[in-house]
Amino acid sequence: SYNGLALTPPMGFNDWQHYRCDITEQTILSNATALVTTGLARHGYNYVNVDDCWMASQRDADGVLQANPATFPHGIGWLAGQVHRLGLKFGIYQDGGYRTCGGFPGMYGHIQQDADTFASWGVDFLKLDYCNQPTDQYPGDSPAQVAKIVYAEVSRALLSTHRPIVFSESAPAYFCCTGPNFTDIMSWVGDTGNLWRFGDDIQPSWSSILTNYREDNTPGLAAHAGPGRWNDADMLLAGTAGTTPTEQQSQFSLWAELASPLLLSADLGSLSPQTIAMLSNQDVLAVDQDPLGAQGTIVHSDADADVLAKPLANGDAAIALFNKSATARNISTSAGNAGGYRLTDLWSHQTTETTGTISADVPAHGVALYRVHRSKASWPPPSVAIVPDVSGTRVTI
Ligand code: GLA
Repeated sequence: SYNGLALTPPMGFNDWQHYRCDITEQTILSNATALVTTGLARHGYNYVNVDDCWMASQRDADGVLQANPATFPHGIGWLAGQVHRLGLKFGIYQDGGYRTCGGFPGMYGHIQQDADTFASWGVDFLKLDYCNQPTDQYPGDSPAQVAKIVYAEVSRALLSTHRPIVFSESAPAYFCCTGPNFTDIMSWVGDTGNLWRFGDDIQPSWSSILTNYREDNTPGLAAHAGPGRWNDADMLLAGTAGTTPTEQQSQFSLWAELASPLLLSADLGSLSPQTIAMLSNQDVLAVDQDPLGAQGTIVHSDADADVLAKPLANGDAAIALFNKSATARNISTSAGNAGGYRLTDLWSHQTTETTGTISADVPAHGVALYRVHRSKASWPPPSVAIVPDVSGTRVTI
């Protein structure tokens, strides 16, 4: 990690998917409070991130960013202080170009000034979008080289404030997910930031979950993940309309398997007890937050089902059986290990002994998630090599 931060994927809240530009300081504070009252904060959901549309349409006479006086009358420094008093961290949104995607003043030309402003407000997390790119300033450079100039400068500016600020970069998303610009951006994005959006904006639908899941499995992407450097598959849909509870649980399971940041975007004060319980599943959170920081990868795929495997720090592995289809089906894979192994179903919490097969009846659009314990005899276990066998249908532990 270039700044020592975000050694596990960031967790918390971002208002964008649920509220879009319809936000006020009260929206942010009530969701921050709900993180505490639901107990989600205790499970690690501790960033409260304000997205686009918090700004006034102009900087002040000294060029300092201003909050929208109608919706954020107490200002961002005050709001950050309120969030800190709840024991949470505070994040903000800006854009590396001339204007944000919503048309508000961008950071380009004010990079150090805005970094200093954010630090003075007590900002702990910056999401830097990349609409309205300043490519015309660098006529000889590729769009990827221009992005590097901008993001590296912001990265340095944040470091120079001496305030720990997690840096979320959006540049890869504008070039997703193939081609020379994407490859170039991916070659440096982990040296300048802690997490990055690489794909589409999540929308409240199953097809959007599938799109972002596919993008997160872009060949080569997983190799970029590690402590302090995360591929961000975008916000969770848990607790919102448009997807079923099963689909929301699947997204949560897959995002954990893929070591994605877990940023909720819902009215957290009205989450159902079932949704809160789902998001508080410590076994699933431990897969996402595993200190090894490996991103799970697909070891078998057909039209209806994927099998993913994620190595874990203690030598265990997390296995996901993903039913992409619209009908229930049995999904089966195997992990060979002399002497057998223990298998914990991370949703039912049942542990079984097996010598080979990992098999589940998975509902339509469902995910079964398992922790495969490397050895029932030795602790700590030796490290695991996950090797799909020649047929590509087995997971060998
Ligand atoms: C882009 C980003 C979104 C959100 C909006 C705000 O579309 O990808 O996540 O920040 O801008 O305008």
